Amino acid sequence: MRKTAMAVFLILLAMEPLFSSVFKGQREYMKKCKVCHGGGAKMAKSKTSQEWIKIFKNKGAVLVKAHENSKRIYNYFKSENFSKKSSHLRDFFVKYAYDSGNVPACSD
Ligand code: HEC
Repeated sequence: MRKTAMAVFLILLAMEPLFSSVFKGQREYMKKCKVCHGGGAKMAKSKTSQEWIKIFKNKGAVLVKAHENSKRIYNYFKSENFSKKSSHLRDFFVKYAYDSGNVPACSD
């Protein structure tokens, strides 16, 4: 009985980083991106998971380029803060990408 509980706990613990990364990415999206791009779920669905992975390659080079003319957020994409959060943002977008079949419980 105790062993089963322990096993369940360990499985949950092993899965936790992925869940929390998606969650952190969603929170970061709400804080930084929503003002201009609207709902995160809609944004995530606008591309396939492969496209999202490409966009976040090379420290998000595609994103940096796309925001060249948006001064406020451009600095963010160049910042330490973004390099720390970009994997979470990517996990969030990939999780709800066009081809993922997932719909977030909270759709914005
Ligand atoms: C100040 C407004 C603004 C903010 C904040 C902003 N963006 Fe953008 N974003 C733009 C503009 C403008 C474009 C370029 C025009 C377009 O494609 O809509 C763009 C384009 C994009 C694209 C399209 C790139 C492509 O090649 O398809 C992605 C993806 C994107 N932004 C993601 C994000 C993410 C992620 C965040 C938050 C970390 C964010 N944006 C925050 C204004 C913003």
